[in-house]
Amino acid sequence: MQDRVYVWEAPVRVTHWINVICILALSVTGFYIGNPFLVARETSAFLMGWMRFVHFVVAYIFVVNMAVRIYWAFAGNKYAVWQEILPFTGDRMGKLFSHMSYYAFLGKKPPTELGHTPLASAGYCIMYALFALSAVTGFALYSQPHHHGFLQFAFGWVFGIMSIPATRLLHHLTMWLIFYFVILHIYLVLFQNSTSKSGILGSIFDGYRFVPSKKAGK
Ligand code: HEM
Ligand code: HEM
Repeated sequence: MQDRVYVWEAPVRVTHWINVICILALSVTGFYIGNPFLVARETSAFLMGWMRFVHFVVAYIFVVNMAVRIYWAFAGNKYAVWQEILPFTGDRMGKLFSHMSYYAFLGKKPPTELGHTPLASAGYCIMYALFALSAVTGFALYSQPHHHGFLQFAFGWVFGIMSIPATRLLHHLTMWLIFYFVILHIYLVLFQNSTSKSGILGSIFDGYRFVPSKKAGK
């Protein structure tokens, strides 16, 4: 017997799937901007223009979505708050290593947390840092034609640290680093889903996870 526990509220699930769509759209359009892999049949097709337009519109959605999730790290339930995401307490750091041994097939006990495990949240911290890096380098590149605007004021300082080609390279490289963590993330979710009965995979769709029932005295 198992009890259902409501873990992920709607804002966590919705921001998660908006994030997924944004990363996919930004990667396809970004990859095209850096390496135009389609040839337009006629000049009026305006292919690069559309790719850049979609990239910039989705970039704004991506940043607003991130801001909503950061707000929910203060307003959400006990599984969504920032204390559950930053892995820097002694207890969470200790569990980080025991969970690593489980994922490396050295330990048999699956993690018991209903929210993010310390290992998962450490991964999310790195992912969010990469999202922020892509946003800062992306808006710095975007600010170039706006010499006196707000964007230039807010992101122009990036070019005081590195050259324009280096910023572009870093922006591109960030995409591959995000891919690395996304692949790892999906693997870890599927691994935990197949080795424990806590319903981790379904939880990001309907919000519920499962624990052994208290009524059954387990
Ligand atoms: C978050 C806000 C983002 C903004 C404002 C932004 C903006 C930009 C800009 C201005 C360019 C250069 C366009 C040009 O030279 O015409 C660019 C290129 C690119 N973007 Fe983004 N971007 C963002 C996020 C992302 C993300 C999340 C990814 C992928 C995960 C991504 C992938 C790329 C790639 C691969 C390029 C081509 C770089 C190259 O090789 O030249 N971008 N982006
Ligand atoms: C571009 C692809 C993806 C990105 C960037 C991504 C990123 C994230 C992030 C940042 C979180 C933390 C949620 C929060 O607290 O705000 C998360 C949680 C989660 N994601 Fe994803 N995700 C991606 C794809 C997927 C896919 C395809 C699945 C399903 C197979 C999935 C399943 C989950 C689950 C089950 C959780 C919550 C459980 C946990 O704590 O690990 N994700 N994801």
